[in-house]
Amino acid sequence: MIKCSFRDSQKKRETWAGDVLVLPMFEDESLDMTGVVGDPSLYRGVLAHIEACRFRGKSGEHMVLSPPDGVTAFHVILVLGFGKKDSLDVEAVEKAARCCAKQAQALGARSLLAVFMDGVFSADQLVTWASGVSLMTYRFDSYIASKDESDRRELETLTIESAHASACADRWEKEKNVLDGVALTRDLVNEPPNILTPPAFAERLRALEALGVEVSLHDNVSLEKEGMRAMLGVAQGSVYPPSMVVMRWRGSTGKDQTRPVTFIGKGVTFDTGGVSLKPSAGMEEMKSDMGGAGVVAGLLHALAARKASVHAVGIVGLVENAVSGTAQRPSDIVISRAGKSIEVLNTDAEGRLVLADLLSYAQDHITPRMIVDLATLTGAMVIALGYEYAGFFSNDDTLANQLTDVGRHINEKVWRMPLHKAYDKMLDSKVADMQNVTNQRSAGSITAAQFLQRFVHKDMAWAHIDIAGVTYHKKPSFLSPYGASGFGVRLLDRLVSQHYES
Ligand code: BES
Ligand code: ZN
Ligand code: ZN
Repeated sequence: MIKCSFRDSQKKRETWAGDVLVLPMFEDESLDMTGVVGDPSLYRGVLAHIEACRFRGKSGEHMVLSPPDGVTAFHVILVLGFGKKDSLDVEAVEKAARCCAKQAQALGARSLLAVFMDGVFSADQLVTWASGVSLMTYRFDSYIASKDESDRRELETLTIESAHASACADRWEKEKNVLDGVALTRDLVNEPPNILTPPAFAERLRALEALGVEVSLHDNVSLEKEGMRAMLGVAQGSVYPPSMVVMRWRGSTGKDQTRPVTFIGKGVTFDTGGVSLKPSAGMEEMKSDMGGAGVVAGLLHALAARKASVHAVGIVGLVENAVSGTAQRPSDIVISRAGKSIEVLNTDAEGRLVLADLLSYAQDHITPRMIVDLATLTGAMVIALGYEYAGFFSNDDTLANQLTDVGRHINEKVWRMPLHKAYDKMLDSKVADMQNVTNQRSAGSITAAQFLQRFVHKDMAWAHIDIAGVTYHKKPSFLSPYGASGFGVRLLDRLVSQHYES
């Protein structure tokens, strides 16, 4: 992660140097450089250049310029467009951050100085911008042996000058921990499935103990004792034993201590589809099928590192959905932990089998205040909402509205989808309490959510977020250059800080 510092624009500059000077500009407003280089005669040329090129400062636009003659403190000026001043929102701020990080990379800059005009950007917006630049510098390159360290020109420091320096610095202290959480999630999701097997994943979660998280690993034998046959059925085709990991952060005292906010993640380290084998094209993306578990791990990291005053529990079910002679078959019937029988008609609808047992375990052992589960659950969600929004389902309007608002606020957008008994009926089986897939192709994400709801007690506030479309991309997305996005960590961290911290 980059090192970020904030300096007060009212204070005289002592050390003032960087590879690139970043200047924000609003659409169709003139660029004011008096605060930067002092003597107007110095920057007249810069302004003339901007005018000559008809640069208007639209959102996402940028312009690279040479510094005025006589200015040696920086090598390049990067003018960043933030769009119209009166429509400055989180999307415009993040767009500018993405653009800035890309240009810094292209210019080979190690350090940036950004001078934000006073009275326009709030401390929150400045931290959002810094956070966006930082997220964009994430790389997953630990397996590239040929990289030449001496050749590496990566952004290392960011200095932001503004009138809110101390408010920003306070917020940044917290934000850094959340960004570390996002990086952990991205690392886990990007990790190849031969390395991040269920036991290896579980072992890596132990590292959270260093932050004060209580981590307990539940192996094959204890899953068997718990009667988690739905989850075990998924795991039985793999040479790797499954594992359930329970992470608990006790950051609050008093009443909340007894009822933790609970997060559950699907952790399928690789999804071949099982005997209902997936087609080869694109199957490599199924290394990201543990994305829900990755988010839960990153979230627990964030909460513990920033010492959130909340009692939170994260539960992940780690399995590999492999195909082999011991794999479960379409038509197998398994008895879930909750005692309900499931006819497994499609072994590729495995995530819901894992989650069903985790939901049941959580409600009996944790007494949650509310439950949010995350899963790369259905391809149908990608068809419905594409790669921008995650779809979610909830039996609780308050929780649903909280999620929607927080998502809009931090630009990890979520869209509520319906639950209804008419969809639930589609899961009725002739030979068991339910089947794991419907007999039709329609409403795939909804029927998956209905399946989960069969394992949620009536009075339990619950939301299920299907992150299939937002977790892993081959193109840059959500301030991530390639691969894992980390979508969900900042969303849920903010949900906790805004609504569940004492
Ligand atoms: N892991 C997949 C869902 C998925 C698809 C995630 C694409 C990310 C991108 C899940 O286990 C699955 O295979 N679901 C099936 C369900 C079907 C058999 C009812 C699907 O979506 O095709
Ligand atoms: Zn599957
Ligand atoms: Zn899956």
